[in-house]
Parts: sequence; C-alpha cells; structure tokens
Amino acid sequence: QKNIPALHEVYKDYFSIGAAVNTYTLTSEEKSLIKHFNSLTAENEMKFGLLQPQEGNFTFDNADKLVAFADANEMKLRGHTLVWHNQTSDWVFTNKDGSQVDRETLLKRMETHISTVMGRYKGRFYSWDVVNEAISDDNAEYLRPSKWLDIIGEDFIAKAFEFAHQADPNAALFYNDYNESNPEKRERIYRLAKSLLEKDVPIHGIGLQAHWNIFEPNLDDIRAAIERYASLGLQLQITEMDVSVFKWDDQRADLTAPTEEMLELQATRYDQFFQLFREYRDVITNVTFWGANDRYTWLSNFPVVGRKNWPFVLDEKGEPKNSFWKIT
Ligand code: XIL
Repeated sequence: QKNIPALHEVYKDYFSIGAAVNTYTLTSEEKSLIKHFNSLTAENEMKFGLLQPQEGNFTFDNADKLVAFADANEMKLRGHTLVWHNQTSDWVFTNKDGSQVDRETLLKRMETHISTVMGRYKGRFYSWDVVNEAISDDNAEYLRPSKWLDIIGEDFIAKAFEFAHQADPNAALFYNDYNESNPEKRERIYRLAKSLLEKDVPIHGIGLQAHWNIFEPNLDDIRAAIERYASLGLQLQITEMDVSVFKWDDQRADLTAPTEEMLELQATRYDQFFQLFREYRDVITNVTFWGANDRYTWLSNFPVVGRKNWPFVLDEKGEPKNSFWKIT
C-alpha cells in the first residue's frame, strides 16, 4: 500500500481532487475516500427534494454527517445543488389548493431554501452549484423547459445567484452542466454566463460535469470548451467526472468485468484528460469524480438499468487501475 500515491497529494500543486459520496459510501468506501480525496460533494443528499421534502421541513441529518466526515478528515466541500429541474419536490411549485404558484411565491421559496441551506453551512463550502442544467440540449432552444423557467422567467437563474451570494458571500458560485463540450451547447452555456456577467450577477465559475466515456467527447472539443469558458475570466471545476467504458448508445448489459481493451483505452483517455487539466491549472480549481471507486457508481443504473460500469481510476476494491497509474 505504501507505494501507492494519494491522488490529492499528486495534484496538490494543481487543483483539489474530489469524490461524490452518499451516507452509504462514506462508510463503505471510507478508506479510499480518506486516502485519495481532499474534497467531497453530496451525490444526492443536498439536493432540494432531499433537504426540504416538505415546505419548511428541512432534513439536514445526512448533510451534517457529510460535513462532520469532511471536518474529521480535513477535506473541503462542494455544494450540489440549489436550483435544478430534477430531484425537487412538487410542493415547491404548487399552492395548497393544488394550483401553480405565482412568480413572487416561487422566488420567495427559492430564497428561503438557498438562505437556509447556505446559511447553515456558511463559510464551510468553498463552492456551490447554484443552478444546475438550465441550458437545453436541443439546438433549436436556449434554456431547458422547467417549472423554474415557466413560473419565474429567464431571470430565475440570476435570482438564484443573487440569493446565494447574499447567503454566503465567500462561496464561489457555479453554473454546472453536462454535454459541456458539445460545440453548440458550449455556446449556449457561454452565452448564459456572459449575460450574467454583463448584468453584474455574482457568478464565479462554470462546472463541467464531465460525464464522458472512452470514445467521446473528443479532446479538441473539451479543450475548446475550457478555452471558451475561461475567456470569460471565470474559474472552472470538473464537477462530476466519470469515463464510462460504454459509448452512450451502447445497450450491452452482459459484461461482468471490463475487457482489457476497455481498460487500456480508458487509461489513455484519463491520461489525456488529466494532461489537459494540468495544462489549465490556472483556471481549473478542482476535479471531482462522481463516486469514490468502481464499486459504486450511478452508471450501474444509467442509462442501462442493472448494467455494471467501471468509470473510475480506482477499481471495485479501491485499488489502482491502469488509469490511476497514467495520471499519477
Ligand atoms: C445523479 C445521482 O448520481 C444518482 O444517484 C441519482 O439517482 C440521479 O442524480 N447530473 C447531476 C447529478 O448534476 O446530480 C446527477 O446525479 C448526475 C447528472
């Protein structure tokens, strides 16, 4: 074990190295987490629906456990996420009589949620995904249709950042999205961030989720996205990295272990990605994997339910894969 370097040590002069966790993996993967990571994100437990399942009924137990774990192990914390179209309870958009709330009510609820959550942990989270996935994947459209957009209008995004900045003025505030290196979507994300900056909205960074695979996206598109976003003077974080061994539309579900070929290609890709990240060390301030190691990943149920995936640099026992050795 002694000669296996700690990932966060290897990258200490570049950026912090994070993992997404949940109450289960905080225990089951404790060893991997403590050894390799110095930043944590809640995979689910700090989403709106889990923190405030009913109006005014805040359930902080799991988030508090995460913070206690980070405190005990001297780790940093990224907040995920305040305003999103998913994992947000229906009550947020609904009046007691079942009708849809008006703009003022929804803004008030947004503000209460943001100020309560960020207020509780003020000063403890270095960055927050304030708005998640608000840009459309459809090239004919700018923003993704959602209740937030429907009821409040386009400025729901600016409002969320303003409330967040009031709640914790020292936290770095992020807009976070996926397909972030797709050339068309990249331009829409750029347009959003630019328009927020022009209105003096307190946005400090763009999160690139980095749900990639061993074939896509190509390195040039990723580099172009980094360049484009960085040209706005914002910091960047790689917020949810995983490198699936399956192409997006591959429906296979029969593999019980990754093939040698997959692992080799994955190692080559990780090598390229981290070379690129190191090159942009001045703008990239964190790289977070969307899990601790291959034992647990949301990709075991997405996009193909029950299909194993091996997207990380540590295997199911938390031991280094070829990918790990390439990036260390
Ligand atoms: C995912 C979690 O990993 C899953 O456990 C959950 O069922 C759905 O959400 N983009 C995001 C993350 O911003 O919050 C998502 O996390 C993955 C895609």
